[in-house]
Amino acid sequence: MTDKYTLFVSHGFGKDLAKKLGLPQPAVLRRYKAGEPLVPGPVLLLGSGNGNAAGADELAAVLLGWGLDVRRNALPKEKLGAIILVLDDVEHPQDLAGPVLTAAQSLRDLVPCARVVTISRTSASAETPAVAAGRQGIDGLLRSLAKELRAGATANGILLGDGVGTTSPSTLGALRFFLSGRSAFVDGQFLTVTTGVGQLPTDADRPLAGKVAVVTGAARGIGAAIARTLYRDGARLVVVDIPAAGDHLAAVANEVHGTALQLDITAEHAGERIIAHAMERHGGLDIVIHNAGITRDKLLANMDESRWNSVIGVNIGSQLRINEALLASGRFSKAPRIVSVASTSGIAGNRGQTNYAASKGGVIGMVRATAPLLAENGGSINAVAPGFIETEMTARIPFATREVARRLNSLQQGGRPGDVAEAIAFLASDAAAGISGEVLRVCGQNLVGA
Ligand code: NAI
Repeated sequence: MTDKYTLFVSHGFGKDLAKKLGLPQPAVLRRYKAGEPLVPGPVLLLGSGNGNAAGADELAAVLLGWGLDVRRNALPKEKLGAIILVLDDVEHPQDLAGPVLTAAQSLRDLVPCARVVTISRTSASAETPAVAAGRQGIDGLLRSLAKELRAGATANGILLGDGVGTTSPSTLGALRFFLSGRSAFVDGQFLTVTTGVGQLPTDADRPLAGKVAVVTGAARGIGAAIARTLYRDGARLVVVDIPAAGDHLAAVANEVHGTALQLDITAEHAGERIIAHAMERHGGLDIVIHNAGITRDKLLANMDESRWNSVIGVNIGSQLRINEALLASGRFSKAPRIVSVASTSGIAGNRGQTNYAASKGGVIGMVRATAPLLAENGGSINAVAPGFIETEMTARIPFATREVARRLNSLQQGGRPGDVAEAIAFLASDAAAGISGEVLRVCGQNLVGA
């Protein structure tokens, strides 16, 4: 599923033609490759200048320890790989001018696929209206900046909850994710770090080493990409899909040196079978990725019971039942991680998808309500909401509708299954343990419902 247009306009004649005609010029995105530098150039780190620079100073020390080339002041005309704005001590909207306008002077010096990342506090816990206004202002600012950046550059934000610092493990985990090529198709988004728990991996290229992970719907598409990415990151895999997809499932299992479990996830004892298989074949279970999903689109006026019930049953009913079995089993790891695949349809709605959007909205509600249940033993649960991803599903959309849907985001292109998989792999890692009950959109800042 290639986007030939993006390749055509990225160099030579195609590039010149698109420029002349004012056509969209999507960039070829920087995607993660093991061994490549975290950031493709020096990092400009700016504090709020509010007199309390402790958060920025501590972070600068950590970044230097990662081997990054950190600047506290931009050098004239020097190309930058990233700008980090540490705004954790903002107390009033007027505090934003200093760092934001300083960063503005360097925006034209960003290398292609550079990153802008803000680190600030959640407005929910602000003690005064002025503090809340300053913090919430960062939300509008960042989402707007993400729409202004070009050449594959992205802007994302990290929100710190009470007691969480700029160098807490999951703040650093989220920062590494946003700076790296793993977040290529994540743009204009925020991740909230709610607790100071978590641990950065000793080997940054194998953050899931020693973990056993289950991926549902893994015979093809996004699920197969998730299995490959978790395997690359060091996990041992159980791949699950319906018996009819058995051959493809076996091929994926072989590729990731894992085991295949042919199972309809709507079956009554699906959760128990997953646990039993993981225990017997791998001696444990640490990570569950609820990816399997179906669409049965119809306008609600034409909707029948079978379309409605099958979508609700596969996309959310099965997840609720499997989670219940996992939690009741007492065998689901000491620090379990669950990541569910939602959809931007479940957030913004989509014509012809009332059943699908209800199921995906349901995933988001389920994730938020399950987070406290897993917190007791250091577990976490999050959702990833993909936008337009280049898969067999989206390849079937008629050409004109597909072209519009594909370009209607800040990066002017569809994402790849691997982009969704990268976000899931991050949220499944111990570096993200302090992030729970969250929904991360992987949509290139889709303009619909953004
Ligand atoms: P896909 O249709 O290519 O793959 C889904 C897989 O789930 C298939 O292998 C299928 O056999 C399996 N599956 C379906 N029902 C099952 C059941 N009852 N038990 C076990 N396995 C079952 O879909 P794709 O595009 O890879 O989507 C994966 C997930 O991402 C789904 O949850 C989908 O809703 C979601 N998503 C996809 C987007 C896209 O642009 N492709 C956008 C937003 C969300």
